[in-house]
Amino acid sequence: MNGRRINSCLSLAAQHEGDEITTIEGLADGDRLHPVQAAFVAHDGFQCGYCTPGQICSAVGMLKEIRAGWPSHASSDVAGPAALTEAEIRERMSGNFCRCAAYPNIVAAIRDASEEA
Ligand code: FES
Repeated sequence: MNGRRINSCLSLAAQHEGDEITTIEGLADGDRLHPVQAAFVAHDGFQCGYCTPGQICSAVGMLKEIRAGWPSHASSDVAGPAALTEAEIRERMSGNFCRCAAYPNIVAAIRDASEEA
């Protein structure tokens, strides 16, 4: 919402009148997938796909937060730029659950997409 991650499952649409909302459908450019979407496909970052829209939207927002220099609880240096380590990715994505346990591939997809970006 307005370029920031939110828990959509805890938000009422009526609360966001006038806000800019980006969903999974809004990430692609026509038939061209967003780099994070393409990386999820390339790394099999999903199984049933139930969590995938949330995982991808959260990953896109999380990568913006890292580029903006926002630290996380896993950042070794809160004053410096965060390195995109596996621990950093897992901490920043920790609110997104995958019941299929596709986490290793999700982390690989995010790392790959961040290098492409
Ligand atoms: S792919 Fe099934 S819940 Fe994540």
